[in-house]
This record gives sequence, structure tokens and C-alpha cells, in this order.
Amino acid sequence: MDRILVVDDEELLLDTLVRLLRHAGYQVDGALTLKEGLARADQENYDLIFLDVEMPDGNGLASIEDFKTVDSKPEVIIITGKGASDGAEQAILSGAWAYICKGGDLIKDLRLLATRALQYRAEKNKAARPIHLHRDHIIGNSPKLNQCLDLVAQAAASDASVLITGETGTGKELFAKAIHKNSRRAAHNFIIVDCAALPENLIESTLFGYVKGAFTGAEQQREGLIRLADGGTLFLDEVGELPLHLQKVFLRVLQEQSFRPIGSLKEERSDFRLIAATNRNIEESIAQGLFRSDLYYRLQAFTLHIPSLAERKEDIALLTRHFINRLCKRLRLPPKIISPEFIEHLEEYDWPGNVRQLQQTLEQVFATTIQQNTLFANHLPKHFRIRHARADFVQQAAKINIADSTGGGTLPSWKEYKKHCEKQYIKELMTHCDGKIKTACEISNLSRARLYQLREKYGLLPSGKAGANR
Ligand SMILES: Nc1ncnc2c1ncn2[C@@H]1O[C@H](COP(=O)(O)OP(=O)(O)OP(=O)(O)O)[C@@H](O)[C@H]1O
Ligand SMILES: [Mg+2]
Repeated sequence: MDRILVVDDEELLLDTLVRLLRHAGYQVDGALTLKEGLARADQENYDLIFLDVEMPDGNGLASIEDFKTVDSKPEVIIITGKGASDGAEQAILSGAWAYICKGGDLIKDLRLLATRALQYRAEKNKAARPIHLHRDHIIGNSPKLNQCLDLVAQAAASDASVLITGETGTGKELFAKAIHKNSRRAAHNFIIVDCAALPENLIESTLFGYVKGAFTGAEQQREGLIRLADGGTLFLDEVGELPLHLQKVFLRVLQEQSFRPIGSLKEERSDFRLIAATNRNIEESIAQGLFRSDLYYRLQAFTLHIPSLAERKEDIALLTRHFINRLCKRLRLPPKIISPEFIEHLEEYDWPGNVRQLQQTLEQVFATTIQQNTLFANHLPKHFRIRHARADFVQQAAKINIADSTGGGTLPSWKEYKKHCEKQYIKELMTHCDGKIKTACEISNLSRARLYQLREKYGLLPSGKAGANR
């Protein structure tokens, strides 16, 4: 039940207003001073406050803000005995919902005033409430991903066309589905049209459908995907690949919300919401004359850019846990422990194929570690380990101090310094690889022969090995 507070120092009027509003079905309290009113407003959750202007302990107009900023953020209606119009202006400027003269029709209009103000408040609160988003298997908690989820919520609340951009494997299709599932169209179809996978001569009939006999081989009438998307969402994947002549036809469909199946004379209606995705730079395609700018503007009423995985490495740990758990569940295996180095190695990689590549890598690792309880960095493909070793080694090598090369004295000559570094490098390299030549060659990119030469030059061959290549 809505709660109202009336603040007025005229006892008789206060009593009347409280009784009338209670009679109208509200839960109502009264206060005879500003101080008492503010104390009550602070403690109770009022939705609406009727506030008198001339009070024994101050001016109601000057207190509007104090009342409006209590926790329940109530609406305030000013009631005044004077009816001065400058007071009205001040009241409205201070955020009062209305300014009413006691002498007029206050008693008669009281109920209507309260209903209107409370209705306004309910609508306002509804609009301000964050939309609860079903993530629909979108994993990640990085600030960049969360920004995308906010946009998904906004896009889902509207019916505007959406253009989703992002590198391959970033999750464009997943986000498109999430927009659909959170929208008012969720109970209807989500139809995917992959413009890159469809041969050009089939795109038109797939999209628009055809009537029987429309062309040789059209033995039966066939519904197009645009018709199937009626009431739901049409997802045009890789929209940048849509041939130019179809872009024109499609633009018309968007504008008219109607289409004509091939061979038919009749226009048919389809009420669909369009989401398009691309990993191409459409603006470049426009410049090259490969994409119509009018269609582009129509598509991107709302744009959502999904950042690459390298830009949100914080998500890698959560995604890894998610994919590995899912694989374990599929095979009814207990969850695996994932070692921190395993994650560290994954985080060092740049993931040009983004989340899809991470998922595929983990599937490969999983296939070879079914029996293991813990995933260690050693279980990852070799190139991850080499990369990690390199990064580690570069860090170590950076610690080599110039002064070391001459025992802390004056600056060495360039040649001396280079020689010193070379020796240090080979020494560190061999320690790092536990003396394993194959790994040392992989990390350093040196051939076996060159590595041997350098070890020999600097006396770094194990005793008895000099002169005997191993
Ligand atoms: N945030 C995420 N959480 C969970 N899974 C994800 C996430 N992002 C992507 N994926 C998964 O990664 C794979 C690739 O995602 P999707 O097909 O949506 O990418 P895309 O951007 O459409 O790629 P492409 O441009 O190559 O078509 C899918 O299996 C998808 O479920
Ligand atoms: Mg895709």
C-alpha cells in the first residue's frame, strides 16, 4: 500500500487531509512541524509528502530538497495558504511534483492529486529499475564484458536493429541470442542466416522463400527465413558478405516490414527484429563500394562491439573453469583442479581466435588428460610452454647488469659487453632448460650447431664434451 505523510501546522486541516487520504485507501501519517516531518520521513518509507509552506520552524519550500532526498525519495506536493505564484515556481524548480492552493479545490482534488503523483512515481521507478538480464551462458566478469552486458540489457529492452561487431570467436552469435532471449520476442523464433556460408544463388530463396513453380525444381512452395522470423528475431550473421543487389532488396524489407516470395505477386508481412553481425570493417566496405551506406545506417540503430579476449584477459580464468567443468560433466567425471600456472600460461597468449580458440584448446587438452585430476601447465600444447619460458627468460636476461661485465669498474667497450651478454645468455638458457638442447634451441631459435659453437666458445660445455657434438 502506498504511504503518504502530510506536514501541516494547522491541526484541523491536517486532521481532515489525513482522514480523507486514509479513506481513499492510503496509509497516512501527519506531522505538525518540519522537524517532526523530516524525522518521520527519514524513518519511514513514504511515497508521497504533502508539505505546507509556512511552518512554525521554517519554510516548507526551503525544505523540499531535504524531504526529496530521504531514502525513499518521495514525491512532494506543496500545499499553501497564500498561493503566491513565485512560490509555485520555486517549488517546481526544487523538484516538487505540484503546488496547490489550500483555498481552492484542495479537498475535492486531493484524491486525484495523490493518485496521479503516485502513478507517476510508479512509472518512474519501473523505468529506473535495472533490467534483470539472463546471461544465457555468457561467462566473464571483466569490466569490458560487463559493459557489453549492460548494452545487451538496453538493446533487449528496445526493438531497434542491432549491429554486433567484433573479431572472430568473440561471441557475437552468443550475444545476439542473449538479446533475443531477454527481449519481448523471446517466445518466438531466433532465426540465423549465415550470409557467408550460403551460396549467392541460394540466399534469396532462403531468405524470401518461393512459390510452387517459381523456377525449375521449385516443386513445392517453401517458406523463407524472413517469414519464419515473424514475431521473433532474424540474425544476419556476416552481414558484410551480403551481395550488393540483395542489400538493396533487404533494405526495402526492413523499411516496409514486408517481402515477396520468389514467383509470388503478393507481398507478405513479417514482423521481425533484426540483429546483424560482422567481423569486417563495414565502413571500409562502404568506401570500396561493397556495402550500401543506407543499409549500414539502418542496421546500426544500436551497436554492440565485443572486445577481443586479449583485451579482457581477466575473463580467461572464469572461461577456462567453465569449459573444463562442462567437459567433466559431459563425461560424468569429477571436476578437475586447475593449477595457477595453467591459467598463467593461457593468460600470456594473445588468442587471435578469441573465446572459440580457447574453447578448442581446452577441448584438446581435456582429451589427453581424462585420467588426470589436476591440469598443469605441462598439459598445454608445446607452443604455450615455449612462449612462457621465453617471457620468463627475457625477464631473467633483463637483469644482467652492465657493470657486471667489467666487475663493477668503468663502462666496458661494446664488443666486451656483447661478449659478456652472449655468455650470460647461453649460461641462463642452459640452466633454464636443464641442459636439454632441444628445448634450448626451441626457446632461443638457435640451430643446434650454433648453440654448440657458442657453448664451446664460452667454455660452457660439460667437461669432457668439448669437441664432441651431442
Ligand atoms: N563470454 C563467453 N562465455 C561463454 N562462451 C563463449 C563466450 N564467448 C564466446 N563463447 C563461445 O565461443 C564460441 C564462439 O562464439 P560465437 O560463435 O558466438 O563467436 P562469433 O563472434 O560469432 O564468431 P565468428 O565471427 O567466427 O562467427 C561459441 O562456442 C560460444 O559459445
Ligand atoms: Mg558467428
